[in-house]
Amino acid sequence: MNREFNLFPQQASTIAGEVDSLYFFLVAVTALFTLLIFVMIVYLGLKYRRRPGVKPQKVKTSMKLELTWTIIPFVITMVMFAWGAKVYVDLERPPADAMVINVISKQWMWKLQHPEGVREINTLHIPTGRPIKLVMTSQDVIHSFYVPAFRTKQDVVPGRYTTSWFEAKQQGRFHLFCAEYCGTDHSKMIGEVVAMEPSEYQAWIAGTVSDVPPAVAGEKLFYNYNCQTCHGQRAPTLAGLYGKRVQLTDGSTVVADDNYIRESILNPAAKVVAGYPGSLMPTYQGQLTEDQLLELIAYIKSLNNASSGDSASGTMPLPTTREGR
Ligand code: CUA
Repeated sequence: MNREFNLFPQQASTIAGEVDSLYFFLVAVTALFTLLIFVMIVYLGLKYRRRPGVKPQKVKTSMKLELTWTIIPFVITMVMFAWGAKVYVDLERPPADAMVINVISKQWMWKLQHPEGVREINTLHIPTGRPIKLVMTSQDVIHSFYVPAFRTKQDVVPGRYTTSWFEAKQQGRFHLFCAEYCGTDHSKMIGEVVAMEPSEYQAWIAGTVSDVPPAVAGEKLFYNYNCQTCHGQRAPTLAGLYGKRVQLTDGSTVVADDNYIRESILNPAAKVVAGYPGSLMPTYQGQLTEDQLLELIAYIKSLNNASSGDSASGTMPLPTTREGR
């Protein structure tokens, strides 16, 4: 850990420089105007102070002046808007090939799982030079996954998934904080992200006791709950579903992402797929843990690349391979 005094955390992710540039721009503009206003107040206050024998002048209006102090701030705020929007979009859209880490938060710890199945608590090992996407949910209250060195912070909310992504550009150990007050031990809900060279990371993964990969565990669950008796027959097939736009009975469409699949498992009647009126699917609310939900989603997602021989070997018809999102 870097123990020197740093006013700013290291710029350890690909996006950190972008965030900082924007931040410094905002600080510079703010400082400039603060200074300008301060100086003008003092200067004009002195220059036009009331003096004995001098009558107050009539105020003259100036179109030029009005236009200047309207147009300049307008341009500056539009730069802030466009620049901010760009950085926001970059921060919000994980690359399609990102490695997915499942994150479940609870009072007061971070539970993390790698696609290979390796589980960690409060420490996340990642390879450098590879985009990492976090799919996060909470077992209890709202937490927030904050890695200052990566300039990423995202609330982690019960009952739904939020995502965050980053790509570490240098090796190192970086602070992980919970950035949302979540109870007594909020301040102890801290950890570390350990960024390693890809080869080192592979060696680490290989040398760690691994749980079953989420997609494989999800496949098992899928058959344990007999989901296959309906899906692919009187219920929509799930192969190739992930990331696809789905037509619903009410005529609207929805993208089958993590949150949609989660909702469809827990509350099947909420968004019924067109052509399947009077859905008979029971709710699995209260029957599945957050881990199991993520596993089922990982399994359904894996059906998209089943032909590339990943982990899924369902009895379901193989999908025509398509890129999700
Ligand atoms: Cu979890 Cu604060």
